[in-house]
Amino acid sequence: MSAVVDVVDLVKVYPAGRGGEPVRALDGITFVVEAGEFFGFLGPNGAGKTTTIRILATLARATSGQATVAGLDVARDAARVRVAIGLAMQTVALENLLSGRENLEMIGRLHRVPAPELRQRVDELLELMGLADAARRLVGTYSGGMRRRLDLATALVHRPAVLFLDEPTEGLDPQSRMALWEELVRISRAGTTMFLTTHYMEEADRLCDRVAIVDAGRIAVEGTPRDLKRSIGSDAVEIALGHPDGPDALASAQEAALGRLSGIDGIMTAEPSAAGIAVAVADAHAAVPALLRRLDGDGVRVTGLTMREPTLDDVFLRYCGRHIRAEEADRPLETGWW
Ligand SMILES: Nc1ncnc2c1ncn2[C@@H]1O[C@H](COP(=O)(O)OP(=O)(O)O)[C@@H](O)[C@H]1O
Ligand SMILES: [Mg+2]
Repeated sequence: MSAVVDVVDLVKVYPAGRGGEPVRALDGITFVVEAGEFFGFLGPNGAGKTTTIRILATLARATSGQATVAGLDVARDAARVRVAIGLAMQTVALENLLSGRENLEMIGRLHRVPAPELRQRVDELLELMGLADAARRLVGTYSGGMRRRLDLATALVHRPAVLFLDEPTEGLDPQSRMALWEELVRISRAGTTMFLTTHYMEEADRLCDRVAIVDAGRIAVEGTPRDLKRSIGSDAVEIALGHPDGPDALASAQEAALGRLSGIDGIMTAEPSAAGIAVAVADAHAAVPALLRRLDGDGVRVTGLTMREPTLDDVFLRYCGRHIRAEEADRPLETGWW
């Protein structure tokens, strides 16, 4: 694998405003995004996400540290970096009096994509974004969702090495958000390296192969969503037990079940719960078959089983000492893209 984005010890200090203190927005950030990855920067407002994207996209200068994108230094080779990247949904001016296809062709010519290659790329993108049937319609007649898909396509015409998306679903209704998620997954699967920022846990969890959790200009922890959730310790498995009627029947079923679980590897805790027993294990998917094998039979009847994995919320809480959401409530929402 090769690094498409390579960032070493990036620092950004914004100078003090009138009477204020300088703001250390990035306090030494280091990470790598590999080709083909869907990489996420997850953190609350003010964490430094937009600052990072702006530096990588050559729209702002770092105070110190190095960053390369597609092998090019963002400070020394800014013009070539700009050609190598895509910035999604930067409210490019879609031309209402041109068709969807014409819009893409126009952007492609601006990027100097050679004509035969451009035709093929535009066909590909119209297909990928579900706009093939509407390709000849004027963009002025497009729905909001269609415009968004065309916006995404315009960022991809020149086959960027990486597509940057800064909080792409901020402010969208749930239905539009889910539609956009599907579009982003399709773009990623078609081979584009993705760099997305978000403060939505679920979004990072659903979309990203790997996530860096950022807080106050630093990366608190990074990894795959699955590893991060696992790293904080345990999954909860709730096992409901069938039992005859009677005052002590549940208690004796619980006692029997707990007795059978003693000595199984990977069980962190096991205790009675409202409908049966609750078991904490390192990895529920791995542990459940063994749990069920051990419990089944002779006076113990399993009537239900639910697993709850930790969420990235739990991860943020563990590493940053508070919930992302509580933070959100205290700060005004940013508006706009940059
Ligand atoms: N142009 C600026 N001048 C001064 N401070 C800024 C500027 N842009 C951002 N900041 C500050 O830098 C920090 C990080 O901001 P930002 O990168 O926008 O975070 P995020 O995108 O994660 O919400 C915040 O404290 C913010 O107030
Ligand atoms: Mg931001």
